Amino acid sequence: MRAIGLVLFFCAVYIMADPIPDRFFGRFKIDRSENFDEFLSGKGVGFFARQIIKLASVTKELTKGSYPGSYTLENLSWKKNVRYDFLLGEPFSGEALDSTEFEITFTFEDGEVTEHHARHDNPDITTETYHYTMSADNKELIMKMTNNGITCKRYFKRQHS
Ligand SMILES: *[C@@H]1O[C@H](CO)[C@@H](O)[C@H](O)[C@H]1NC(C)=O
Repeated sequence: MRAIGLVLFFCAVYIMADPIPDRFFGRFKIDRSENFDEFLSGKGVGFFARQIIKLASVTKELTKGSYPGSYTLENLSWKKNVRYDFLLGEPFSGEALDSTEFEITFTFEDGEVTEHHARHDNPDITTETYHYTMSADNKELIMKMTNNGITCKRYFKRQHS
């Protein structure tokens, strides 16, 4: 009886948590970027690596999970596909592109989805946060990130299947 109560309690918490609005769901393909080269350069990425990263096509797909409050974000590229299944506000272990382990937390607040990455072995130095918003016409997913005072925006166009 107590266990059922506990389960119902946690279900209620997830349902009450501000959910990600429907307009964020879909498949979005990279279209253009602002300040991406400066951003990568500020992170110490060398010239040749920057050219490859800038040319790489990336598709992001955000979908609802199978139970309330669960979501899936996929990062699809020629190099690797990364898939995160998550609950808002619940940290989980995820792998980044270079196979390093991160603790990742997604939140939704003030119309913005936030993806926070912290390195297990060094949470201070390699922390990264991606901010996602939708354009007013809901046709573009906008990803914003800042490093060393350099803010970069990447625009992903909604794909229709
Ligand atoms: C998504 O893919 C792009 C292109 O390969 C890569 O630069 C980026 O780091 C990836 N993001 C994540 C969170 O894996």
